Amino acid sequence: MKKNILITGGAGFIGSHVVALFVKKYPDYHIINLDALTYAGNLENLKEIENASNYTFEKVDILDEAELTRVFHTHQVTDVIHLAAESHVDRSITDPLAFVRTNVIGTVNLLNAAKTYWKEYEKHLFYHVSTDEVYGSLDDGGFFLETTSYDPQSPYSASKASSDHFVRAYNNTYKLRIVISNCSNNYGPNQFPEKLIPLCINNIKNNKPLPVYGKGENIRDWLYVVDHARAIDVVFHSGKNGETYNIGGFNEWKNIDIVRVLCEVMDKKLGREKGESEKLITFVKDRAGHDHRYAIDASKIQKELDWEPSLQFEEGIEKTVDWYLGNETWLENVTSGNYQKYYEEHYE
Ligand code: NAD
Ligand code: TYD
Repeated sequence: MKKNILITGGAGFIGSHVVALFVKKYPDYHIINLDALTYAGNLENLKEIENASNYTFEKVDILDEAELTRVFHTHQVTDVIHLAAESHVDRSITDPLAFVRTNVIGTVNLLNAAKTYWKEYEKHLFYHVSTDEVYGSLDDGGFFLETTSYDPQSPYSASKASSDHFVRAYNNTYKLRIVISNCSNNYGPNQFPEKLIPLCINNIKNNKPLPVYGKGENIRDWLYVVDHARAIDVVFHSGKNGETYNIGGFNEWKNIDIVRVLCEVMDKKLGREKGESEKLITFVKDRAGHDHRYAIDASKIQKELDWEPSLQFEEGIEKTVDWYLGNETWLENVTSGNYQKYYEEHYE
């Protein structure tokens, strides 16, 4: 059967890499990118494939049930890969309801649209993309497994945990075919510069302070975004109904060490004296309820689906820094609040 895959959040950071990968790798699939183009969505991320004959963009909010129904009918959607979300923990602390709306209600709207439009559930798949943050915070030992109990600590992770539960409930109750993956922190091109790595790159470039929360001792497990997109491809095609797959890079770093690495790489790239950018490091008030450590055990996806990260962290950071330094207009557009400029100029 020919697939018409609805990818939500495809104009965002991870979604844009997933859309580009699927459009290029699977010319027989029709990829429909559905995105509301919030501050985090930018069609400039997709200029490489925007004219491909197997690609369509739909500017739709997942809170709009009627529009979701129209999109399912118009494109005869066969499968969903759901990435659209509010994704930044700090924003969830100031505006939790926005996260409930998009991440919880939006996900249920999408599940309902699929449940209603699809007739023979065994022929379709609803793939929900989630985060390791649903498992809560680790001490210095241990890893998150697929069997680890949910224990979300921030409004963001609580909303993602809730959406994961709804997806599993639709599998159990209505027998919708589903898979879920929970991934660690991503970095790479197209990430909005509010998250740690692109924020530091942008601030170093502009000689602005690098705000490190608390003592910088919190630990995250980092994965290059293209490797996450490759994992999503594998889970979509080979994941088993009802299963969860953890995705991670076995690559833990303290925040302060990441910031120092970025300073070192940027000093070289910008021709600054060694140690120059480190002077920008500024310890600031800690994030409320800051999770101490995330660490994924990705052995299930490695063993069962034969996926593993392809890039070493040093290489990934180098590529990321090069990308941000080479894409000044992109940075200017997204940081000036002019994030819809590309859409207005190319689509309206
Ligand atoms: P992002 O914030 O960069 O992109 C989110 C996209 O969703 C944007 O294009 C935005 O316009 C769109 N969107 C937001 N609200 C919408 C709505 N109501 N209707 C339609 N579109 C809407 O996020 P990201 O970092 O690319 O994350 C994508 C997914 O992956 C999210 O579900 C996130 O929870 C998950 N995830 C992210 C990470 C990470 O490190 N960034 C790690 C694991 C999982
Ligand atoms: P972030 O990129 O926001 O991802 P998440 O909170 O989802 O893990 O933050 C990564 C880590 O960096 C996290 O421990 C918070 C910290 N951090 C800072 O120290 N300073 C910053 O300006 C930001 C945005 C994050």
